[in-house]
Amino acid sequence: DVKLFFSSELLDWYRRNKRDLPWRQSKDPYRVWVSEIMLQQTRVDTVIPYYERFMDKFPTIKALAGAPESEVLKMWEGLGYYSRARNLQAGAREVMALYGGAVPDDAPSVAALKGVGPYTKGAIMSIAFNRPEPAVDGNVMRVLSRYFCLEEDIAKARTRVNIEVLAASLIPEGAAGDFNQGLMELGALVCTPKSPGCLTCPVMAHCAGRLAGRELELPIKTKA
Ligand code: ADE
Repeated sequence: DVKLFFSSELLDWYRRNKRDLPWRQSKDPYRVWVSEIMLQQTRVDTVIPYYERFMDKFPTIKALAGAPESEVLKMWEGLGYYSRARNLQAGAREVMALYGGAVPDDAPSVAALKGVGPYTKGAIMSIAFNRPEPAVDGNVMRVLSRYFCLEEDIAKARTRVNIEVLAASLIPEGAAGDFNQGLMELGALVCTPKSPGCLTCPVMAHCAGRLAGRELELPIKTKA
């Protein structure tokens, strides 16, 4: 079965090849949250030093919630998209006010936090709590569009939802966090936009896009 092959090979590959990144050293939901917000519009290499400084300065949700906004923005300087920093602090203040400072192990509650969209919700629930929630960003849409040779336009909201349903169906029992990070890692290291490393890809044998010789045409995206 093509889906079971994908799930088990990807999980196995991730566990053997994952990069040692600072946010992978613990499953503290706050640490996962900060990393996922920083990684949304910024590359891993750029994020690392910012992430280390930010966590030193604001090691807990309480510390972040209690800081002056100007201090938070100062730590974000150079990362850009400053509304991410403002929303993250607003979210931390919500967690203090509503949940006593602990991110709730509950997807709808996490999704309702300021600045947390479907991707970040899925990343926090799966990585921190190992809940079987999909975490679909552009990299994951590319990987799955290629593997299943999906021709839907990824610029459409409906396509993202369809890919979320597919991604959820692929999560191996008890391994949501590693599987979702494996999808991200494959998209970052192997199934890259311009010159994918199909020859080293753990799932090439059943990749429908590759088998059709169409990996470079996928995913299909109409508007920017
Ligand atoms: N990009 C988005 N989330 C990531 C993560 N947790 N690790 C590496 N790259 C990512």
